[in-house]
Amino acid sequence: MAEGAGVRRAGMAPSHEATPPWRGVIERYREFLPVGEETPVITLLEGNTPLLPARRLAEKLGCDNPIWLKLEGLNPTGSFKDRGMTVAVSKAVEAGSQAVICASTGNTAASAAAYAARAGLEAVVVIPKGKTALGKLTQAMIHGARVLQVEGSFDDALRIVKDLSARHPMTLVNSLNPFRLEGQKTAAFEICEALGDQAPDLHFIPVGNAGNITAYWKGYREFHSCGRSTSLPKMRGFQAEGAAPIVRGKVVEEPETVASAIRIGNPASWQEAVMAAEESGGFIDMVSDEEIIAAYSLLAASEGTFGEPASAASVAGLAKDVRLGRLPKGATVVCTITGHGLKDPDTGLRAAAKPASLPAHLEAIEQHLGLRGSSGG
Ligand code: F0G
Repeated sequence: MAEGAGVRRAGMAPSHEATPPWRGVIERYREFLPVGEETPVITLLEGNTPLLPARRLAEKLGCDNPIWLKLEGLNPTGSFKDRGMTVAVSKAVEAGSQAVICASTGNTAASAAAYAARAGLEAVVVIPKGKTALGKLTQAMIHGARVLQVEGSFDDALRIVKDLSARHPMTLVNSLNPFRLEGQKTAAFEICEALGDQAPDLHFIPVGNAGNITAYWKGYREFHSCGRSTSLPKMRGFQAEGAAPIVRGKVVEEPETVASAIRIGNPASWQEAVMAAEESGGFIDMVSDEEIIAAYSLLAASEGTFGEPASAASVAGLAKDVRLGRLPKGATVVCTITGHGLKDPDTGLRAAAKPASLPAHLEAIEQHLGLRGSSGG
């Protein structure tokens, strides 16, 4: 008898049955997103990033809490911005837009440029001159965006692009565009799923323009209210001391920090971020540049995880809370590592030990490493 279709021959393993290929955050979480059948999905297959357990980090920090790192630097352009950009750019194309525009400290620019290229749209990105990490600037340029460097801060750039998009047919893709935060909330969904349909007890996150903390809180609430997760986290956000308008309760005119991604003095989602912290029973605090660089180096050296300086603000915040006795025993912790360390090679080179320069001789290398030469024979 001939073997019928669908009848597996003995000894053959089932292939590709259990895990369908990943198709990006829009297809994965369509029912939670403002997209319809007719929305053209512009995706680089963002999302589905690792949630990495960090036991050595916990040990180094002197706590025995379960700590997890949400590695958003593993998105296609190297930051969490891609989750929001896939939705914002898809909706822009659906609406017939020909061009997108944003202000950026770098990552939004890189992501907007890449998704615009993917969609065949023009992109204009406005960045603060001399304050954008090398990798991000390179990304925006190579993807073909029109890159404008202004002599001012991110806040100045944001003011300008808001006016420009009001006067000209260009879609604003900063987080003022609500589709951005809709996409970004999917990171919270992934975390709940990875933790067994529950939220962590505490979520640590860097705060700059304050969109991401707002998006995560929205995601956690939505998943909880529809029964897909059984708990809610307390949100703990961290600004850099030199750029901490929310903590200080007033606009910072000339923000300064080594964490250039969060060098922002007047965040667009200020009120929403305060609400996320308050409603969840968390808070927004600040960490110094020294604390940020210490956490940045510790993360790289203890876990093999290279986040950019702004990303390390979450880990610096965790270290601060351990030090101040503000970390409840046993509480499950997630830190978002928002962007990849390779985006900012200059800061990495300054923070790390310099390589040794040696002659290309075995003996010289052995001597340098403190190894005794073999006597041969
Ligand atoms: N971490 C990184 C790596 C970022 O690029 C940003 C923001 C943040 C944290 C803070 O997130 O603004 O939602 O509070 N970068 C924006 C940009 C401002 O232009 O790329 P937020």
